[in-house]
Amino acid sequence: MKKIITINWWLMGLFFVTIVTLVNCKPKNAGNAVSADAAQKAYVAPGKYDEFYNFVSGGFSGQLSTYGLPSGRLLRVVPVFSVDPEKGYGFSEETKPMLNTSHGFVPWDDLHHVQLSKTDGDYDGKWVFVNANNTPRVARVDLKTFRTTEIIELPNSAGNHSSPFLTQNTEYVVAGTRFSVPMDDENGDVPISTYKKNFKGTLSFISVKKEDGAMDLAFQIQCPGFNFDLSRAGKGVSHGWFFFSSYNTEQANTLLEVNASQKDKDFILAVNWKKAEEYIKAGKGKRKTVKYAHNVFSEKTHTATSEIKTQVLVLDAKELKDICYLIPCPKSPHGCDVSPTGEYIVGSGKLAATIPVFGFDKMVKAIEKKDFIGDFDGINVLKYESVLYGEVKKPGLGPLHTEFDDKGNAYTSFFVSSEVVKWNVKELKVLDRVPTYYSVGHLCVAGGDTKKPNGKYMVAYNKITKDRYLPTGPELSQSAQLCDESRDKMQLILDFPTIGEPHYAQIAPASIIKDNSTKFFKIEENKHQYVAKGENETKIIREGNKVHIYMTAIRSHFSPDNIEGIKLGDEVYFHVTNLEQDWDVPHGFGIKGAANAELLIMPGETQTLKWVPDRVGMVPIYCTDFCSALHQEMQGYVRVSQAGSSVPLTYGLGSSAPGAKEKSVQ
Ligand code: CUA
Repeated sequence: MKKIITINWWLMGLFFVTIVTLVNCKPKNAGNAVSADAAQKAYVAPGKYDEFYNFVSGGFSGQLSTYGLPSGRLLRVVPVFSVDPEKGYGFSEETKPMLNTSHGFVPWDDLHHVQLSKTDGDYDGKWVFVNANNTPRVARVDLKTFRTTEIIELPNSAGNHSSPFLTQNTEYVVAGTRFSVPMDDENGDVPISTYKKNFKGTLSFISVKKEDGAMDLAFQIQCPGFNFDLSRAGKGVSHGWFFFSSYNTEQANTLLEVNASQKDKDFILAVNWKKAEEYIKAGKGKRKTVKYAHNVFSEKTHTATSEIKTQVLVLDAKELKDICYLIPCPKSPHGCDVSPTGEYIVGSGKLAATIPVFGFDKMVKAIEKKDFIGDFDGINVLKYESVLYGEVKKPGLGPLHTEFDDKGNAYTSFFVSSEVVKWNVKELKVLDRVPTYYSVGHLCVAGGDTKKPNGKYMVAYNKITKDRYLPTGPELSQSAQLCDESRDKMQLILDFPTIGEPHYAQIAPASIIKDNSTKFFKIEENKHQYVAKGENETKIIREGNKVHIYMTAIRSHFSPDNIEGIKLGDEVYFHVTNLEQDWDVPHGFGIKGAANAELLIMPGETQTLKWVPDRVGMVPIYCTDFCSALHQEMQGYVRVSQAGSSVPLTYGLGSSAPGAKEKSVQ
């Protein structure tokens, strides 16, 4: 009887949450809500640059998109975890290794969070780090080329959600596992109901080399088996610490929407990573056998390599008591954000009625005084009241994420009440609120996670669009909304659609990125194995059934453009070098019937398309990127003969094309 009543309460709770969600996803005053001078504020005249770059996660598109702000103009989609036929990413032989994992080639992922590299707590414009949520990986995008140049897989992890978050000098990128799972070197073939006993959560610390950004999985911390959600590094006074939000501290393994919301409080996990470093130096890390891929794209060879690594150092938080502490936080906290000075940690409980703000100094004192209320799976739990600085009362419904401006204010997104609320951090007072259309998830303020926020703009990234754009079938375009933050009252000035589903995003001043852009690759520095640095170096080499075509592209022809002697059963590799040495002159390469994509080759670069002819006949090739007035003439033919054919391998261009001499004799 008791059991039935409990279940009824659960269902009623669930019912209530559902009702609230449905009722509140559209604010009452839904409408245009844009005042007359708004358009002018978002207007960037033709030919003028935007003031900011906005790097926006693509969610289930697996890609990173780049917008200009305040215009909301889409500038570029950078392929990271998903193949991209537009750029040949994941299709060319050079980029295939980027998507290699311990599971083999994985052509898709779910990209949630972006982090611009930092020096002294401020964006330095060098790299963007992003996470793969599905097959746990962290990638680095180089902002000189806007290309993915490194991807590292994470062992002992599943659902890499609280990732990738950075320390103030980019010492580490961290990644906390969302799903707890048995460790990779333990038997995972266990009953799911043994969750509490067998499942663990891990936090990965990836070191980043100052000079070139090279990543390395430095160590992991093994934690109790619950779900890590988001994270932020301490900065300023709290530099040396990391904070992770968690949910499902109930350690449920089924129907989490009910079973993981039972407790009044979950935890924010505070991690003293400087201490962890000391333990690693003192040899306290245990070497665990794992398997993960580390993929690096070289700008010299224009080629990616993938290495499978087999060991990782793991610290056990249960044994090393002074690395990790748990701070109780109401209720299924999602965002866990640190103020610009590093003094305050804001926890946003998805189902909580207040926003708790924790004081870093209070936490340190509570640890010194051993102000613990007990332990959870061997980790000391601090007393809520001892760490709490204060609570923001009645801020809204369903707080998710918080960012900061340069005037001591915080901005928190509220999913259920569909609004962004501005409040003062020290006074814990709500100052202003602006409705979102609709159901905002993440938000970002220009420089909002740095020591020196800019505070000029805030963008809300919404989960539901409803009536904001022209309908496009069953799924509507995703929506971002730009607010002017420069005055006391927030003002909505622009809606713009985004790609995939936007999660976290960051806004950086254009001035720290735009002048460092690579204009082209120097052909004399091209170290690609199959480069042809001029038309005189073009050739075709047959090795059994493998045919390597060293080809060049320059306005407006390929060399060679006539090829004969290819046979059924051959595996053909077109190694195309773009000989141009000028900004913004890519050439493309497409071939009929290729089970593949195009190549899009930047000036000075070599890229390779693999092609296996499937029939005898004449196969056209052409340039896919409009490169000159005679772009349409940039084409050629490949003759495919029977397997045993005696047609010799010949090739050329113009007077050297196969049969050109015979033709001139006639
Ligand atoms: Cu080269 Cu079009």
